[in-house]
This record gives sequence, structure tokens and C-alpha cells, in this order.
Amino acid sequence: MGSPKMVVPTTRKSLFVIALAGILAALMPESTVGQNCGCAADLCCSKYGYCGNSSDYCGNGCQEGPCYNTTTNDVVVADIVTQEFFDGIINQADSSCVGKSFYTRDAFLEALNNYTTFGRVGTVNDSKIEIAAFFAHVTHETGHFCYIEEINGTSKDYCDENNTEYPCVAGKGYYGRGPLQLSWNYNYGPAGDSIGFDGLNSPETVANDVVISFETALWYWMNDCHSIITSGEGFGATINAINGAVECNGGNTAAVQARVKYYTEYCDQFGVSPGDNLTC
Ligand SMILES: *[C@@H]1O[C@H](CO)[C@@H](O)[C@H](O)[C@H]1NC(C)=O
Ligand SMILES: *[C@@H]1O[C@H](CO)[C@@H](O)[C@H](O)[C@H]1NC(C)=O
Ligand SMILES: *[C@@H]1O[C@H](CO)[C@@H](O)[C@H](O)[C@H]1NC(C)=O
Ligand SMILES: *[C@@H]1O[C@H](CO)[C@@H](O)[C@H](O)[C@H]1NC(C)=O
Ligand SMILES: *[C@@H]1O[C@H](CO)[C@@H](O)[C@H](O)[C@H]1NC(C)=O
Ligand SMILES: *[C@@H]1O[C@H](CO)[C@@H](O)[C@H](O)[C@H]1NC(C)=O
Repeated sequence: MGSPKMVVPTTRKSLFVIALAGILAALMPESTVGQNCGCAADLCCSKYGYCGNSSDYCGNGCQEGPCYNTTTNDVVVADIVTQEFFDGIINQADSSCVGKSFYTRDAFLEALNNYTTFGRVGTVNDSKIEIAAFFAHVTHETGHFCYIEEINGTSKDYCDENNTEYPCVAGKGYYGRGPLQLSWNYNYGPAGDSIGFDGLNSPETVANDVVISFETALWYWMNDCHSIITSGEGFGATINAINGAVECNGGNTAAVQARVKYYTEYCDQFGVSPGDNLTC
């Protein structure tokens, strides 16, 4: 708890640029639509013909490169994330916790409507593994849904002033908020663009609107963790993506072990093997 999270900067174009490109592309003859592609090997060509590596590029409509597998299976995530499962986590938070009257399973399921491939790639066991991994990190980041905001977050500086695409707004704090403790201007900005709130001017929305709060967690997960876990790299690689600079390679073994413990517990509950490469 309370340590910097999500230190992976994204280099995505703003959604406005993408949307505009989409409108322009729709007006152009077919042959010019993909003219901006020919991306580097590790980048996806988006449906509008731009290179990038986030879900806007590698998700639905991705033309070439390491496109996500957006063919979904028949899993109903709500059947795995039952009220009993959700309560089994949040009931472990102390009654004094602010998160207890904020986070709900219903809000998670509503947010999920916009992330249709979450927990629905590969086999049923693959689905269970992704869901277990997501909730393991959420449990760790929030202390069993106790915290909405990072402890002492206001005293910390999560402003990357070198990021000119998503400049910090004076007086606003981009410290950890929500189920995966969204942090930094370079995450608040694009998360807001993608979800539909003003992440730079109103980062507090993530602590006030529980559906948006879960959407930020799912947004981050789909961009930085989904392809890692669904490609079978193992749970440890998701720790690395979320807080590797601080926790991996002996940085904070206790935090790594806590995340792994939750993950294996949830895999047990779902009746699936946790797989290999659990730590980082
Ligand atoms: C996405 O690309 C950026 C730079 O283009 C890179 O720093 C980052 O590691 C990449 N992320 C993934 C998940 O490949
Ligand atoms: C994509 O996922 C679906 C089910 O989620 C699976 O049936 C299919 O084999 C996968 N395709 C590839 C190329 O991995
Ligand atoms: C939060 O700040 C208070 C006062 O500065 C300090 O005593 C406490 O240890 C801090 N807690 C964490 C988790 O950093
Ligand atoms: C911003 O850029 C300067 C100059 O390149 C560098 O010294 C500084 O560490 C950077 N700050 C951050 C937060 O990355
Ligand atoms: C998210 O899903 C809701 C329906 O649950 C829909 O009304 C809303 O427009 C969606 N938002 C985005 C950004 O896709
Ligand atoms: C799913 O995982 C369980 C537990 O590891 C295993 O017994 C079962 O055979 C797996 N199902 C499939 C279809 O692989």
C-alpha cells in the first residue's frame, strides 16, 4: 500500500486524434486507409492505421502486429465473480474502512460492460486465471477494498512534468485512487480520455464515482496486464507491469508474496491451477 504504482508511461495518441483520424479515414478511398502503418515489429496497426501498443491499437480492428486476440469465449465473468467471491474479499476489511461503503460488485459488473474481452480469452481456465490475477492485485492495492485513495497520497508527487501530452494541472494530485490505485498524470489523462472524464482537471472523479473507478482499473489492466496474463507469461509478469520498479528483484519481497498469496487463494476458489512464474 501507499507506494507508487503504474510507472509505465503510455505513448498513446489522444483519443481525439484517433477519432479524427477515423473520420478522415472513413472519407478516404480504401487504398489510403492503412497508409500510416508499417509499424515497428512490437507495435500494432490500429483499425485507423496508426501505430501503438495499447488496447486502442492492439484491440478490436487491429490490422497487423501483435494484435490482441479479441475473439471471446462463452465465459460470463459475473458467474465467476459471484457476490460470495466479492464479499469474501471486502468482508475482510475493517468496518472503519471508507472503501466498504464505496466498492460494490454491481459497480464492477457495470464497468465491465465496456471491457468485453476481460476474463473472456482462451479456455475457461484461462478466464479464471485472469480474473484471479486482477482481483489479487486489487486486494493488495486496496487492502481488501479498504482504501479508495492512497495513504498520505496528497504528500506525494506523481507529476511527470516531461509529459507534455498530459500536463499536470496545478493543485491536482495524481496519487493512487481506485481498485488498482491509478497514479501519475500520464495515466489519469489517457484513462479519462478513454473512459469519458477529465482525468487531468478532475482526478478526484476516480475516488467519487465507483463505476468510473472500476473502469480506470479495467482500463489499466487491459492496456498493461491483459495480454501478459492471457499469453501465459505468468502472474509474476503482471506484478512487474504494475509495480515492478519498486517490488521486483528483491525490491519488496513482502509485497510480491502478498500478491502471490491472494492470487493462489483465488485460483483455489475458482478451481484452477495458478501456473508457473508466480514471482518477479
Ligand atoms: C509500449 O511502447 C512503449 C514505447 O513505445 C514502451 O516503452 C512500452 O514498454 C511498451 N509497452 C508494452 C506493454 O509493450
Ligand atoms: C483466440 O481466442 C479464442 C477463444 O478465446 C480461441 O478459440 C482461439 O484459438 C484464439 N486464437 C488465437 C490465434 O490464439
Ligand atoms: C503518513 O503520514 C504520517 C504523518 O506524516 C506518518 O506518521 C505515517 O507513517 C504515514 N503513513 C504511511 C503509510 O506512509
Ligand atoms: C525530465 O527530464 C529531465 C531532463 O531530461 C530529467 O533530468 C528528469 O529526470 C525528467 N523527469 C522525470 C520525472 O522523468
Ligand atoms: C460504458 O458502458 C455503458 C453501458 O454500461 C455505456 O452507456 C457507456 O457509453 C460506455 N462508455 C464507454 C466510454 O464506452
Ligand atoms: C482446468 O483446471 C483444472 C484444475 O487445474 C483441471 O483439473 C482441468 O482439467 C482444467 N480444464 C481444462 C479444460 O484444461
